[in-house]
Order: sequence, then structure tokens, then C-alpha cells
Amino acid sequence: METTLVLIKPGGVSRNLIGEITRRIEARSLKVVGLKLINADRTTVEAHYAEHAERPFFKDVCDYLTSGPIVAIAVEGTNAVKAIRAMMGATNPVEATPGTVRGDFALTIDDNLTHSSSDPEAAARELQLWFPEGTL
Ligand code: PPS
Repeated sequence: METTLVLIKPGGVSRNLIGEITRRIEARSLKVVGLKLINADRTTVEAHYAEHAERPFFKDVCDYLTSGPIVAIAVEGTNAVKAIRAMMGATNPVEATPGTVRGDFALTIDDNLTHSSSDPEAAARELQLWFPEGTL
């Protein structure tokens, strides 16, 4: 059993995709064990993307994540990390397979709708950051 983090980014929230994305997660028999709609603060977002601090898109991605409300979801299930990454599709939506969230709803990397943890270690770190109070 694993727990992973999904963030629905401002583009996903403004396009009313909260329900659609959450529906897909639940339909896969994965369990929502934490969920909140928040205006992320810059410090949390910069900590979240800290490993990319030296990359050219760092400021842009932090600007994007703080540009409007986001939804943070903690998702539990067998192989949850891999299952969720596969469901969201390739990071660059133009390479994402139809049937995935990005393959169905996104076109460009600067508005790729969701973030999901890349491996169990990243998931543990990110869940601590976004759900310091813990999950259910
Ligand atoms: S991954 O999935 O972590 O291997 O992807 P990676 O290519 O390393 O990218 C890390 C995160 O940075 C975002 N990203 C960008 N944002 C805006 N503009 C550009 N050009 C760009 N390139 C990468 C990418 O979406 C990853 O964030 P998340 O939140 O995981 O999608």
C-alpha cells in the first residue's frame, strides 16, 4: 500500500476539472485520504520544486502554482504512485496518451493540469509538505 500526492494546478481548477480528475482517481479504486482547496504560498511551492531550482522554468512553474487556487489530494492504494503517474500521462501533454488526464485535457507543458509524485520517496516528502497535519 502506498500514498501519493496529486496537485490539481490552477489551470485544472479554473477549467472545472476538480470533479473529473477526482472521479478518475476514485474510479480506479484508489482512496482519497486527504483533500483541500488552497491558495498555495510561495514558500511551499518553492520547497515542492526545490530539486528544479536551477532549471530555467523554475520561476515560471512557481508563478503558475501560485496564480490561483489549487487542490491537493492524498491518494492511497496498491501501487498508487505508479498508477497515478500513468493516469495523469506524460509530463509534456503533447506526448500524453489519449485516455490520460493530460492526453484528454491538456496541450502544453506550462499548463499540464496536475502534478503527481514521481516515486515513493518523493511522495513521502511532498505529503509532509502539503499535509503536515497528516492524512486520514
Ligand atoms: S518530471 O515529471 O518530474 O520528470 O518532469 P520534469 O521534466 O523534470 O519537470 C519537472 C517539473 O517542472 C515542470 N516543467 C515546466 N513547467 C513550465 N514550463 C516548462 N518549460 C517546464 N518544463 C518542466 C513540469 O511540469 C514538472 O512539474 P510537475 O508539477 O511535476 O508537472
